[in-house]
Amino acid sequence: MKNIAVFASGTGSNFQAIVDASESGTLEAKVTLLVCDRPGVKAIERAEKHGIPTFVFSSKEYRNKEAFETEILKKLKEAKAEFIALAGYMRLIGPTLLSQFQGKMVNIHPSLLPAFPGKDAIGQALEAGVSETGVTVHFVDNGMDTGPIIEQATVPVDENDTAEILQQKIHKIEHELYPKVIQDVLHTPTEKGEFV
Ligand code: GRF
Repeated sequence: MKNIAVFASGTGSNFQAIVDASESGTLEAKVTLLVCDRPGVKAIERAEKHGIPTFVFSSKEYRNKEAFETEILKKLKEAKAEFIALAGYMRLIGPTLLSQFQGKMVNIHPSLLPAFPGKDAIGQALEAGVSETGVTVHFVDNGMDTGPIIEQATVPVDENDTAEILQQKIHKIEHELYPKVIQDVLHTPTEKGEFV
């Protein structure tokens, strides 16, 4: 059984979907750590409810990204985490974490990348007037939502969709897609006979 860490900054509904899939066995992995950069958010409460250890930090308390990522690495080691799923973590990953986890770190983004990267992808899609948007799961690199795409799913945009409605539709797809893709990435053998 692989141990995974999830990083979140807010509500944590995708974190919850991963935990639920892990508990039901459809995702053969154990969530051994939640990393969260915003004290007080709902994701933390969700972790506590499921007895999942958390590392909650405030970036202001560290000199720089290297300093807090070094601390995160320590916590990942303690949690024996072999894989990271970013789920609404609102920070770019720096070289400290990437050097250890590149190819073993995925992110979910609420658009059909490369369209609408960065903040407020749902607002960007509505603004652009597209008839279809979606969800992308990709490996993390040093760019903003630029890493190699693993899987995408489309979501139709209806004329009357508000940001709230579209977000609900996207979340529903995310909660199905993300645990499945993590399961695939973790359990599909590579040429070397091991996961990514
Ligand atoms: C999701 O829409 C995800 O695609 C994006 O941030 C949002 C997080 O939502 N990266 P939640 O905290 O998982 O509810």
